[in-house]
Amino acid sequence: MKIRFHGHSVLEVQLEDTNVLVDPWLTGNPSAVVAAGDLAPDVILVTHAHADHWSDVPQIAQASGALVVSNFEIAEHLKRAYSYENVLGMNTGGESRFDWGQVKLTHALHSSSFPDGAYGGNPNGFVLTAEGKTLYMLGDTAPFAEMQWIGEDHDIDVAFMPIGDLFTMGPRDAVRAARMLRPKLTVPIHYNTFPPIEVDTATWAADMQASGFGTSILAPGESITL
Ligand code: NI
Ligand code: MN
Repeated sequence: MKIRFHGHSVLEVQLEDTNVLVDPWLTGNPSAVVAAGDLAPDVILVTHAHADHWSDVPQIAQASGALVVSNFEIAEHLKRAYSYENVLGMNTGGESRFDWGQVKLTHALHSSSFPDGAYGGNPNGFVLTAEGKTLYMLGDTAPFAEMQWIGEDHDIDVAFMPIGDLFTMGPRDAVRAARMLRPKLTVPIHYNTFPPIEVDTATWAADMQASGFGTSILAPGESITL
């Protein structure tokens, strides 16, 4: 599989026959190098309803017909407000199997509201397993003690971790999270998109490597192949 980073928290998991897009926010995203209209996913995963994760979901879903997998409230909102029916509403702890892989919704220690302030359900992360690999997209979150269980229950190949601080965990807490998750590789997300979440990635990478974890820093548009 190939995983492409599109800036902020936008990830595109390119499987053999399936394209899985996570948290599409391209329109107005200062770090994005592609437009929402350039993407044609088969599946869209949405961690929570905040604008920087949700904004382009309706447009991309309607253009592509993709299955949208999210918490129950976001799925219902798509049906009600956009008459978009190809949704799978789940909730924290639930797992779903597809012909291309499986997705488990994890807890995330954050909040979730739509841009107009409406309730957006509980925030989540995703453990995505496909083609023999396990990815953990943490979503917007602080570290939480149950990450220990996620690390025990899953042999995580790559953890996509927010490090931008202010709204999520910062670089030091990301190392704390990695010690619980034991991933083979860590990739930072949700940083340097705009000034309040600017961080020194060299320091982050050095701290992560000193703790025994591999790092890969992707510029928007870059990808890793597993
Ligand atoms: Ni958020
Ligand atoms: Mn966010």
